[in-house]
Amino acid sequence: MKIIHTARSMAAWSERLRREGVTIGFVPTMGALHDGHRSLIRAARLRCDALVVSIFVNPTQFSPTEDLAAYPRPISRDRALCREEGVDVCFEPTALGMYPEGFQTIVTVPALGRRWEGAARPHHFAGVATVVTKLFGIVQPHLALFGQKDYQQAALVRQLVDDLNLGVGIHVRPTVRERDGLAMSSRNVYLSHDERRIAPLLSQALRIGRQMIVGGMSDVAAIERTMRQTIEQEPSIHAEYLAVCDPDSLEPLSVVAARAVLLGAVRIGSIRLIDNLLVNKPDGKSRATR
Ligand code: PAJ
Repeated sequence: MKIIHTARSMAAWSERLRREGVTIGFVPTMGALHDGHRSLIRAARLRCDALVVSIFVNPTQFSPTEDLAAYPRPISRDRALCREEGVDVCFEPTALGMYPEGFQTIVTVPALGRRWEGAARPHHFAGVATVVTKLFGIVQPHLALFGQKDYQQAALVRQLVDDLNLGVGIHVRPTVRERDGLAMSSRNVYLSHDERRIAPLLSQALRIGRQMIVGGMSDVAAIERTMRQTIEQEPSIHAEYLAVCDPDSLEPLSVVAARAVLLGAVRIGSIRLIDNLLVNKPDGKSRATR
């Protein structure tokens, strides 16, 4: 496995392979890799000839009050996982390499980025959209893989690829969970023993919401109230938002339609966790996914 640190060498590698007709799969990450990332890497491996994983803790998507400095960076373990999964290139740019002095272009996706994570974390999605656009420009993949875990992020990336004609295929993979339902996340390592015990309440609340919809309930306010009550049975976990939304626009629904996405964010102590579930009513047109 090659480890590449500069945009110039990364682009040169990709250009050479593209000239040879090799298809390039790409999994952008911030490292601290777990089985969620692994599932994206495996899905990419199956679909492409060559595989690039980027590991870059992108400073522009963190606000000054967030955990940029503390974000876990177990680089040797991450590289070992990539080697194990047959990754061809681990692209590890530096912050200065990505944002040299004089850098000024920002990519924003205003409507999709406004609500939910966008409201809780101003500038977050501009940071994500900008770094993903840059990474696509450098790596020049045919296909890039994202996790449903970050539903709003995946929707935003799809939109920006369409809007800017980036010519990169986007494939979104289901959320990988711990046995008790907690969505895997690099941030789960911050949870204390007691916090870890109550963290699955978020996925439980979303599952209860989904059951209500599948069972025929269409009163969104009642569904949201039940989800909130499920979480707030534990005083040390605070629900930031729990919403029934249109799965494409992410706008809140007032009445449940055939398809919906349940979006949730909670705070446990200083840690924010997010999760979501797609719902298709039994009379809806497409299949339910987990
Ligand atoms: P990161 O949080 O490292 O996640 C990298 C990719 O892994 C994202 O597409 C995310 O949705 C996916 N992922 C995380 N947890 C998952 C899980 N439990 N199951 C399935 N997929 C999961 O998301 C980012 O990094 C950054 O915002 C990035 C896109 C790299 C831009 O900096």
